[in-house]
Amino acid sequence: MKKINIAIIGIGRIGKIHLRNIISHFPQANIVAAADTNYTAEDFKKIYKETIFFSTDPAEVISMPNVDAIVICTPTSSHAQLIEKALESGKHIFCEKPIDLSLERTILLVKKAKASGLKLMLGFNRRFDPDFMQAHKNIRAGKIGDIQVVKITSRDPGLPPIDYIKNSGGLFMDMAIHDFDMARYMMGKEVKEVYANGLVLVDKKVAEAGDIDTALTTLVFEDGTYAVIDNSRKAVYGYDQRIEVFGSNGMIQVKNNLHNSNVLFDADGIHQALPLDFFMDRYASSYLNEMQHFIDALSNDIPLSVTGDDGLKATVIAVAAKKSVEEKRPVQISEINL
Ligand SMILES: NC(=O)c1ccc[n+]([C@@H]2O[C@H](COP(=O)([O-])OP(=O)(O)OC[C@H]3O[C@@H](n4cnc5c(N)ncnc54)[C@H](O)[C@@H]3O)[C@@H](O)[C@H]2O)c1
Repeated sequence: MKKINIAIIGIGRIGKIHLRNIISHFPQANIVAAADTNYTAEDFKKIYKETIFFSTDPAEVISMPNVDAIVICTPTSSHAQLIEKALESGKHIFCEKPIDLSLERTILLVKKAKASGLKLMLGFNRRFDPDFMQAHKNIRAGKIGDIQVVKITSRDPGLPPIDYIKNSGGLFMDMAIHDFDMARYMMGKEVKEVYANGLVLVDKKVAEAGDIDTALTTLVFEDGTYAVIDNSRKAVYGYDQRIEVFGSNGMIQVKNNLHNSNVLFDADGIHQALPLDFFMDRYASSYLNEMQHFIDALSNDIPLSVTGDDGLKATVIAVAAKKSVEEKRPVQISEINL
């Protein structure tokens, strides 16, 4: 089995998770280089004691001859350029979602990646969450019969900084894109229509930034079945991540993972801990599992289960959802110019 040499670009919130995971958990992979435009080599060395080459120039680490794969964890606006560069340098790619904010560029990049024969994996980590994987397994095993409705509740614990929102591509492209992918993953079918409603209920600054913070989206799949997705940027009780799948022979629920599983019953009521705080703790095992999958796929040269195509399909749904809110009508996927 070939040992994989990885360079990581962008050591922010998600980059730190992937960097630590690769350093600590995968004997068949090495982190050989890292780049971030906002660290100095000294800062980086102080935090990460390991011998990892560091540069403030991503192009320098991408072109290193001993690097097999690039893990891209920079803000979305830089993904396209880095993917291009990695493909030109013959490197496999793991890229955080979404591929790019422009649908046209996303299509081009996915085509280029396919033509190159290199692997491009999208960071749809929730597919690797043990609870969601178990639900998926039970659905595929036919345990709840024919699936009729998937309900996804996906609420953040609080607004990200307004500057982040301004550059994020909006709620559908930045946040709900995970849920669009999850709906496709659970259903195992493609979406044909999107009807979304969106509001600003959390903070007026979100409207000033040209975005929404609350959305309800109905996806209609090619066979007429549904997914209903309920998003908010702020749930006062924490990170709310639940899924219910309803079928002809039953139902599957995935509830929130709580800080602990104690349930206290007293004269005032029944009391439980709050959900885990945010993506870093709620999805910790999914980040490990997705990176394990990427490294396994490279070491053994086997197909990835989440590819650029999945990134593109979720992007198309996000574009349709935005159009649906703007035009206050259901939008057919066939209307989106591919
Ligand atoms: N899968 C998930 O659960 C998940 C969670 C959070 C973020 N994300 C995605 O990950 C990406 C990064 O998000 P984040 O929250 O970690 O951002 P962040 O701002 O916390 O970190 C980004 C890092 O990249 C660095 N950087 C910026 N431009 C760069 C460039 N051109 N080259 C090299 N380094 C550069 C910044 O200095 C910063 O350290 C986004 O695309 C976001 O959508 C995914």
